[in-house]
Amino acid sequence: MSSKGIITIERHIIEAERQFPEATGAFSNILYDIAFAAKMIGKEVRRAGLADVLGYTGEVNVQGEEVRKLDEYAHEVLFKALDHTGHLCGMASEEVEDFIPIPDRFPTGNYSVVFDPLDGSSNIDANVSVGTIFSVQRKVSDHPRGCVDDCLQPGYKQVAAGYVVYGSSTMLVYTTGNGVHGFTLEPSIGEFLLSHPHMCIPEKGQRIYSVNEGNYSRWSAGQRRMVDWMKGATPDNPRPFSSRYIGSLVADFHRNLLYGGLFMYPADVKNPNGKLRLLYEAAPLAMIVEHAGGKATDGQRRIMEIEPESLHQRTPLFIGTSEYVDLAARFLAEETVEEPALAGV
Ligand code: AHG
Ligand code: MN
Ligand code: MN
Repeated sequence: MSSKGIITIERHIIEAERQFPEATGAFSNILYDIAFAAKMIGKEVRRAGLADVLGYTGEVNVQGEEVRKLDEYAHEVLFKALDHTGHLCGMASEEVEDFIPIPDRFPTGNYSVVFDPLDGSSNIDANVSVGTIFSVQRKVSDHPRGCVDDCLQPGYKQVAAGYVVYGSSTMLVYTTGNGVHGFTLEPSIGEFLLSHPHMCIPEKGQRIYSVNEGNYSRWSAGQRRMVDWMKGATPDNPRPFSSRYIGSLVADFHRNLLYGGLFMYPADVKNPNGKLRLLYEAAPLAMIVEHAGGKATDGQRRIMEIEPESLHQRTPLFIGTSEYVDLAARFLAEETVEEPALAGV
């Protein structure tokens, strides 16, 4: 037990809120509600192989992907945890094409939440780690009960962001702009306990790159040169990187946050804007990584400055150790690239 004793996520949120005398508690309640939803989703994820949750609903989501029942369940859990609280003016979800207004029977509030209810869902059947990603924004529209504009804000306007990784343990990691903090679920008491206070991505982290090399033939010349260099396929890299790719963004990101490294989902000739979604995948993780000392770009632009035009807008994503994100930008600009002296790695 740490010298400060056991700190639950509830206590952590309350102590953070006390720093803002004008805080109304609405924001804290949103984080509690998301933590509650994460416990519910985690329970089903752990039983996925048993609860006949596997398989397909036979429907297709806005991404054109077959929806596995667990995606739908996770969406419903988050929606139902948040829709009645009176703290939100609306939501947006990977699983729903349009803006999700608060049902008329409930009051509205001054925040919106955008989420990817289940990230990495294609991995569910294989028992590979999956996750949930969320982003909290302040109401900005004049619409009395909220509208899509309240969800369509650039990343730097987020007031909180976080993710849950349902892996060997269930961890919730979030930031409100005052450090990045990780909580591990103690299943025997159903509480998220502070296990990783003030998370920082290692500055001289491990030389890890995460990318789906199956897309190599569709990449730009700069992207191919970068990965060739990283894997030591060219003579000018004496210390090749290690390749790690789980195929669940949250799991790949979480590992790189802890160990260092670079996750890439680049544009390619088939997906000129990449595959990942700006609002509920790239931007929340960009807020996390920046507050942990890392960087997130689309190859050139800071993710947090990209103005969203639509809810499911995609973006290329380069996220992780600042030095490697900068290296990627140089390769993609096809400049001559001198690897910085990565002392001590
Ligand atoms: P989701 O399950 O929410 O649709 O996200 C899947 C994403 C992301 O988790 C992962 O990094 C990426 O898809 C993997 O894509 P590829 O299979 O094309 O590598
Ligand atoms: Mn996802
Ligand atoms: Mn998803």
